[in-house]
Amino acid sequence: MKGPKEIEPSKRLGVLLVGLGAVSTTFIAGVHAIRKGLAAPTGSLTQMGAIRLGKRTDGRSPLIKDFVPLAALDDLVFGAWDIFSDNCYEAASTAGVIEPTLLGQVRPELEAIKPWPAVFDQRYVKRLNGPNLKTGGSKRELAEQIITDIRSFKATNNLDRLVMVWCGSTEIFMKETKLHESLEAFERGLAESDDAIPSSMIYAYAAIKEGIPYANAAPNLSADIQVLEELALETGAPLAGKDLKTGQTLIKTIVAPGLKARLLGVAGWYSTNILGNRDGEVLDDPESFKTKEESKKSVLDYILQPDLYPTLYSDLHHVVRINYYPPRGDNKEGWDNIDLVGWLDYPMQLKINFLCRDSILAAPIVLDLVLLLDLAARAGMKGIQEWLSFYFKSPIHARGLYPEHDLFIQLMKLKNTLRYLRGEELITHLGLEYYD
Ligand SMILES: NC(=O)c1ccc[n+]([C@@H]2O[C@H](COP(=O)([O-])OP(=O)(O)OC[C@H]3O[C@@H](n4cnc5c(N)ncnc54)[C@H](O)[C@@H]3O)[C@@H](O)[C@H]2O)c1
Repeated sequence: MKGPKEIEPSKRLGVLLVGLGAVSTTFIAGVHAIRKGLAAPTGSLTQMGAIRLGKRTDGRSPLIKDFVPLAALDDLVFGAWDIFSDNCYEAASTAGVIEPTLLGQVRPELEAIKPWPAVFDQRYVKRLNGPNLKTGGSKRELAEQIITDIRSFKATNNLDRLVMVWCGSTEIFMKETKLHESLEAFERGLAESDDAIPSSMIYAYAAIKEGIPYANAAPNLSADIQVLEELALETGAPLAGKDLKTGQTLIKTIVAPGLKARLLGVAGWYSTNILGNRDGEVLDDPESFKTKEESKKSVLDYILQPDLYPTLYSDLHHVVRINYYPPRGDNKEGWDNIDLVGWLDYPMQLKINFLCRDSILAAPIVLDLVLLLDLAARAGMKGIQEWLSFYFKSPIHARGLYPEHDLFIQLMKLKNTLRYLRGEELITHLGLEYYD
């Protein structure tokens, strides 16, 4: 086993959030409430999770936050961009996720966070428009304005380090083109305001150029293009994405590996949701929905591996729907009907009705990503961080590799990466030594 990696100590960490909507405000308000001892960080692996070290008989299972040197919640400082100028308290009240009493207890901290004008173009998010926008000649100039915001936030708050997370709306479905392959072509595209560069890519470019870790909480094409992956290796920026694994897809990646483990066939998997927040409204546009649909649908193919198990999974009918239904706000309801096949091809059904809260599931993931990406940067890890797949519906991965979607393999990979960083034995679960 190699010795531990050199990891710089953590100091004040700036958290740059693109979009100050339901997810961002629930995350920020939650961190302030937890700091004040008003609530627990439930759902956060970095705050509540333990990690086993050594043999099962060793009795060593420290908390992850005591095992690796993560930034403390008290050291986080928040900054954000949004197309609306509401401060974080007003935006959290509009999102309506956290009830007013708790929100009132962190009000001054939230009111102090006022979003900077955004880089936004309605062609990429059709159902949205707002007044708090940057103006500038080209996309290149807009990227420069983002970099200026970042640098002045860092200087004003005396920050040592930064992390950026795209928590903005889901942009329309786009594919990689030639322009996304070389830095020269991409930077020319910025100067010429090429349509192949959506707003999220401008933020991602600015962060990566500055060597800042970048995560994409949404499913749209952003930093997952060849040129930005290469730039990240040059500047030392770790990357993670994309599309937070919450709600229905989280449950799917818990249930599907179990069915496959027992070699139960799946003839069909019908998933539908009702959702009434702004995200639901944006996803009501077919072009934004297409981005989300692609992200949600790929999961089963990779977990069930129909190429290896054609009899069980090659005829699977997988349908995913999201219906915008305002009365529910952020409280999403998901239904899954799974048509199973057992011994001698006897059919069975499994029904799942999940009454969840979208942003309550997403906020602890954003916290973990911020802390783990900062840890990765301090440990000298750059480019795609596949060990953070645990948090995403469409995990980014090295080209030529297929993504790992099974939640339990993802968790093992994450914990083994932490063990590796600290020079601990990796755990294989072989366990023969207990019977020698
Ligand atoms: N909540 C979840 O569980 C979850 C899970 C997976 C992915 N996501 C994705 O995370 C993103 C945020 O979700 P949400 O529920 O907070 O949505 P939201 O609509 O409440 O917030 C998005 C915010 O981004 C702002 N925005 C849009 N484009 C912007 C731009 N170019 N620059 C700056 N701000 C911009 C919007 O004005 C809005 O305030 C969405 O893309 C959503 O699909 C959410």
